[in-house]
Amino acid sequence: MPAAGFVRESEERVVEAVLIGCGLRGRFTYGGWALRHPERLRVVALAEPDPVRRAATAAEHGLPPDRVFESWEPLLDLAPLSPVAIVATGDTEHVAPALAAAERGYHLLLEKPIAPTPADCLRVVEAAERHGRMLQIGHVLRYTPFYSRVRQILTSGTLGELVTIDMKEHVAYWHFTHSYVRGKFRNRAIAAPLVLAKTCHDLDLLAWFAGRPARRLASFGSCGHFRTADAPEEAPERCSASCPVQEACPHDAEAFYLGPADELARSWPWSDVSPDSSREARRRALADGPYGRCVYRCDNDVVDHQVLALEFDGGLTATFTVHGLASEEKRTLRLTGTRGELRGVLHDGVIEVSRHGVLGIRREELPPAHPIGHYGGDDGLLEHFTEVASRGASDELLASGRTALESHLIGFAAERGRETGQSVDLSAFRAEVEREARAQAGSAR
Ligand SMILES: NC(=O)c1ccc[n+]([C@@H]2O[C@H](COP(=O)([O-])OP(=O)(O)OC[C@H]3O[C@@H](n4cnc5c(N)ncnc54)[C@H](O)[C@@H]3O)[C@@H](O)[C@H]2O)c1
Repeated sequence: MPAAGFVRESEERVVEAVLIGCGLRGRFTYGGWALRHPERLRVVALAEPDPVRRAATAAEHGLPPDRVFESWEPLLDLAPLSPVAIVATGDTEHVAPALAAAERGYHLLLEKPIAPTPADCLRVVEAAERHGRMLQIGHVLRYTPFYSRVRQILTSGTLGELVTIDMKEHVAYWHFTHSYVRGKFRNRAIAAPLVLAKTCHDLDLLAWFAGRPARRLASFGSCGHFRTADAPEEAPERCSASCPVQEACPHDAEAFYLGPADELARSWPWSDVSPDSSREARRRALADGPYGRCVYRCDNDVVDHQVLALEFDGGLTATFTVHGLASEEKRTLRLTGTRGELRGVLHDGVIEVSRHGVLGIRREELPPAHPIGHYGGDDGLLEHFTEVASRGASDELLASGRTALESHLIGFAAERGRETGQSVDLSAFRAEVEREARAQAGSAR
């Protein structure tokens, strides 16, 4: 078992962790933060099947061969190597390592979404609670200066009693095609539905601002554009000069992925295409990899636009829209209360507050924050998590598994509502999820 505290006695604030999954999030977000903040977080072992990522991440953290594994199982078979396990595997690969790590005695920093089914989400949360382990979910937007300020204004009472929330996530077309048409989150076999894979952050904020359980919801949406039926006539399977519309197509893979110089192509989204950022390596990856495909001829099945209408306890209502055909990335929100209104645009860092009966609008401009790193949310989450972890103050977690469960359930219920065309009663939905989780736990015994 790990020590009762979260840190080594000799180095009071350093939280030690094993890293499970060394892809974009594991290697660069968490591993990268540990390298930049060695006084706060140290990676002591890792598991990663991809040999290039494994070797590169192990070298970055100076790990000896007996601390480097091809998968999480042999790592978690050992007596715990650290107090914390960071699980940053793909969407459909969270549950098994998270359950095993909690059982082994690790505290968890687990990427969102918790699991691809609501019952599995509940099982993971309950497992962490049963074993008395801390469970932090990667809901990074709570930790941005922007949304922290919004919440502060909301809880200050300036707006009176909250009546309605309107939030929108406009996903830029190039981001959408990269991740949700060609890429890692394109279909249900490998990823959670869009409402979780992309917008679980927004639903988490919605639940945070509402501050009470959701009662019922309705949702509509579909994949309306990135379908074979919309493919230009005679467009080939892959983008190339043989495509009759290549020059006019905004989704041409060659222009988007081969355009940037090697230096820029080391960063996301180009880093997903090839670990070697040279133009020649990228060209080879487009020839047979997923990112070279025509966006109208992929195996995507996630929606490209969806709306949710929700009612919370006490009658508070909310609407949320996500779509993948925006010209630029933008998250907007409007919180309307009995005494005033708050309007905000995350990407501009602008928050405006007006009070009924009071002339003028109070406008705040937050210091610029970059979308890479989630507007300061990645750093904020890790600062918070390592600080709370170093004190073992698990009840201070802002985005715990139990808290995150509410927004996950809203997301799954929205998917149910969208698929059935019926509104969903959240109390009944919660009861159904609990029954299912009990049944699964029973059959796993
Ligand atoms: N919090 C956020 O804002 C945020 C942002 C992006 C992604 N994510 C989530 O983070 C997770 C990881 O996303 P990513 O973009 O880093 O994906 P990725 O595909 O780049 O990385 C996942 C890694 O897990 C590895 N893996 C697979 N099986 C494994 C096993 N058995 N043992 C150990 N490692 C294994 C893969 O080889 C891969 O390197 C996803 O669930 C994603 O939804 C969260």
